[in-house]
Amino acid sequence: MKIIQVKDYDALSERACSFLVERINELENPVLGLATGSTPEGLYKQIIKKYNQGKVSFQQVKTFNLDEYVGIERTDPNSYYYFMKDKLFDHIDISLDNVQIPNGIAPDLRQECEEYEEAIQAAGEIDIQVLGIGANGHIGFNEPRTSFTSRTQVADLEASTIEANSRFFHSIEEVPTQAISMGIETIMESKEILLLISGENKAEALATLLTCDVTEEVPASVLKKHSNVTIIADEAACSVMNQV
Ligand code: PGA
Repeated sequence: MKIIQVKDYDALSERACSFLVERINELENPVLGLATGSTPEGLYKQIIKKYNQGKVSFQQVKTFNLDEYVGIERTDPNSYYYFMKDKLFDHIDISLDNVQIPNGIAPDLRQECEEYEEAIQAAGEIDIQVLGIGANGHIGFNEPRTSFTSRTQVADLEASTIEANSRFFHSIEEVPTQAISMGIETIMESKEILLLISGENKAEALATLLTCDVTEEVPASVLKKHSNVTIIADEAACSVMNQV
């Protein structure tokens, strides 16, 4: 794993944007894996800026998001579908036909997961997957002890994840307890992975990821087995790592 340390969140967002835009411009039909949450918001703002400057186009791009809450309508501002439209898709030249996000209100969730996997296969592999990390080491909604052989599935959220995500909801009771998430094996099949880590509250998770064995207790540790991972982390996120 290659680690790029940058000063702060703005620098992380700019660096991640250059990284992604370079790949999009290199590839003929890029397939991107995208993430939601606070971490990639700055990246998406930077991408919109680059798009407005005419430096990147999404006409040939296909995207697959990592996850979606179960039981939330796409029109709900807390859905990841809404997030992606609001933060990125509505501001660039991507066709919504080329955008895939699991449907958390599908009548048959198991079938939805199977069809999501099939759609990824049909698009070819994901060229570059953007990831964040949970304070508990999760990637996507693959919480500690999720099997490394998992594929897209309905995942139960840990209490700590529900608590962390409650900042977006009126009350903790409103936070869904389940989500559809790409599995760990699905994520590992991406050709390249870009992991973004920002802030002091992720410093422990980064240090653990770098020092622990590859173990299902720390889902992100599986990335050590991938041959093409770049981590961009800001100083605050590196604060514990730099003491080890
Ligand atoms: P965050 O979430 O970017 O909102 O911190 C990341 C994650 O939980 O995977």
